[in-house]
Amino acid sequence: MKKSANTASSNTPTTAAPRVAVAIMAAGKGTRLKSQLPKVLHEVGGKPLLAHVIAAATKVVPPQDVFAIIGHEADRVREAVASTGVNFILQPEQRGTGHALMVAQSSLSDYDHVIVLSGDAPQITPQTIASLLNFHLDEQAAMTLLSADLDHPTGYGRVIRKGAGSAEVQAIVEEKSATPAQKKIQEINAGFYVFATPQLFSHITKLSTANPHAEYYLTDMAEVLRQARQRVVVWKTDYPGEVLGANTRAELSYIDYQMRMRKCHELMAEGVSIFFPATCVIDSDVRIAPDTVIEPFVQILGKSRIGAACRIRSYSVISNSEIGPGVLIRPGCILDEARIGPGAILGPYSHLRPGSDIGESAHVGNFVETKKIKLGKGSKANHLTYLGDAEIGAGVNIGAGTITCNYDGVNKHKTVIEDEAFIGSDTTLVAPVRIGKGAYVGAASCITNDVPEDALAIGRGQQVVKEGWARQKRAAMHPPRRHGDTETRRRNCPEKQKH
Ligand code: UD1
Ligand code: CA
Repeated sequence: MKKSANTASSNTPTTAAPRVAVAIMAAGKGTRLKSQLPKVLHEVGGKPLLAHVIAAATKVVPPQDVFAIIGHEADRVREAVASTGVNFILQPEQRGTGHALMVAQSSLSDYDHVIVLSGDAPQITPQTIASLLNFHLDEQAAMTLLSADLDHPTGYGRVIRKGAGSAEVQAIVEEKSATPAQKKIQEINAGFYVFATPQLFSHITKLSTANPHAEYYLTDMAEVLRQARQRVVVWKTDYPGEVLGANTRAELSYIDYQMRMRKCHELMAEGVSIFFPATCVIDSDVRIAPDTVIEPFVQILGKSRIGAACRIRSYSVISNSEIGPGVLIRPGCILDEARIGPGAILGPYSHLRPGSDIGESAHVGNFVETKKIKLGKGSKANHLTYLGDAEIGAGVNIGAGTITCNYDGVNKHKTVIEDEAFIGSDTTLVAPVRIGKGAYVGAASCITNDVPEDALAIGRGQQVVKEGWARQKRAAMHPPRRHGDTETRRRNCPEKQKH
């Protein structure tokens, strides 16, 4: 490649990339939700509002440049999202969105720009945040705000532009202070901004609390900066759904519904069949491979992963579980932190508790409960069984009604069942106990000692047969009638004579 003569020339100023932080306002109580739980911990799409906003923010800047401003129930909020690796700034008293940025000044003043997000608007996407930032940088603005046109703008701040078609903003007017004419404006302030940090902090002290809530409104920075002859612009998103805030229970449920429908549509686009998606609850972090079929009224929660070509029948609830390809889950199964191997069949009505590891092509049938077990390849436990703290090999048959007695009232003990063993129905296995490879256990046994490989163990009372016993008992209860007996009885029973 031909080198340009002045590639490294010192007269071409090298502009360093601007340092950009994200501040997420998450300190409010959420009075309108009437809840003990802080607003930003209310869940939509299976995780807290704030977790969604952090997920979007950390796709734009790294977690060490993200600052969550917390206040109400700060410890609880911090704990809920600590694993994301973001920073926290405490706003001990919540005196408004403007005040939230005032308390963040010392953490943010090293950055050139700060993107400000609302912790209660969880549908914002990284693309929209990035577009807002790019517009702000292109416009060389002091403040850039995100707006959207809403059919029902009531409750939101309204954007007053300098003129029709102008990107420059005159002011943001809050609902409570808006005139009837301003209330007709459908362009709302979404509650997402980018500020040039020096301009923000050199003018933020001009905010006042002269408003119906007696709070410092961040929205007033539009007018404050404009009066200081700084550039304030607006960028409108074409996706108003992204900016909806969850201030009430009704808004929470609406956003949750929208998120879950969007999740279903994403999965369908990736090749998953979902019948009657409005009845399915699938959390945002769930992954499902193509050709899997989800029947109505299924919940798939947390970080569950489902392989290809599975069928999940109705009324199953699957949480934080990993399911291999080709698995059939019949109706009414409950799975919690379970792992299911390829081609396995579960249900109907199986309950797989944490630590259940079901092998390839294994069967777990109706009314079978498992906990912390390994069930080997092709093994079957088809009916009415409890298997806990057990290691079960391949090709094992567990008869109906088998129970591992894993708990002695103080400690848990392990049951080991080796490959190809056959456990007769109604067996109790008192742990710790081991059933050797290929061994048989007779039905209704109570097994307290280890059973060697290829042995038969029977642990039950001996059967006793008493020939003719039943015939004799019946005869004693109903002796044969003598002739004339009926007539005598009738005479002695006046009631009967009436009929
Ligand atoms: C705000 C905007 C409004 C906009 C709307 C968009 C103001 C004054 N108004 O109204 O123009 O249309 O968002 O959703 O900003 N918070 C703090 N500390 C505080 C107060 C609030 O961190 O002292 C947090 C809240 O937890 C919340 C966010 O800031 O996550 C927004 O506050 P909220 O009270 O919901 O503002 P809105 O009334 O929705
Ligand atoms: Ca809000």
